[in-house]
Amino acid sequence: MTLSDVTKAELVELAGRYPQPRSALLPMLHLVQSAEGSVTNEGIEVCAQILGISAAEVSGVATFYTMYKRRPMGEHHVGICTNTLCAVMGGDLIFERLKGHLDVGNDETTEDGKVTLEHIECNAACDFAPVMTVNWEFFDQQTPESAIEVVDKLRAGETVQATRGATITSWREAERVLAGFEDGRADEGPAAAGPSLAGLEIAAERGWRAPSVDETHPEPDAVADTKKGAAEQADTSRAESETVIEQSPAKTSEETTKEGKDD
Ligand code: FES
Repeated sequence: MTLSDVTKAELVELAGRYPQPRSALLPMLHLVQSAEGSVTNEGIEVCAQILGISAAEVSGVATFYTMYKRRPMGEHHVGICTNTLCAVMGGDLIFERLKGHLDVGNDETTEDGKVTLEHIECNAACDFAPVMTVNWEFFDQQTPESAIEVVDKLRAGETVQATRGATITSWREAERVLAGFEDGRADEGPAAAGPSLAGLEIAAERGWRAPSVDETHPEPDAVADTKKGAAEQADTSRAESETVIEQSPAKTSEETTKEGKDD
């Protein structure tokens, strides 16, 4: 596949969004994935040309982060968190069951090209463990059965709604959003939910509160006063030590030599 002129223009647009164009590399690689289905060699070359860096530098980034894929992806990316908490809460079991159900290994795609399965690291959703993601949308508190139901619906082309987040589209469409081209669905579906809010409710019951901004971020004047005080103290200490040195002048080389002879 060849990158279209439209995609190349969008890559240039992304580079123009940052004071340092090379800062745009991560979203540019997401856009390449959206257009090509993976980070292709051509995509790497084009990003390098636009940013004025080497293909090796782009390749180094594309192979460092696991969200960038060098092999063609399925229509949907299904991630099972097997990091510590999710693993003990059932993530390992879900992953094993899905591998068998889909007849794929880690980072492999089903024969029909619909689902790429991957075990993923902590998604900062531990309070909903074990979690699964579909195109990076959350499916909370999963079981092997609920996960199998989701992937079956995806393969059948049925509508699937994330438990926290938007209706599932496709991995490529999600990659375009990650590149910085909004699809207008950022507020679709539920966001914060029970487990994340439990701490807030307990704090409200017990009258606990977070420190105020004033406590955690003192006014600049207060910070300046503290620094000024510390600087004045440092000056005083330095002056005192200089006085001590002046009162105890170092021995001259002649005195040192004489002492040596006397010994
Ligand atoms: S361990 Fe799974 S989201 Fe944190």
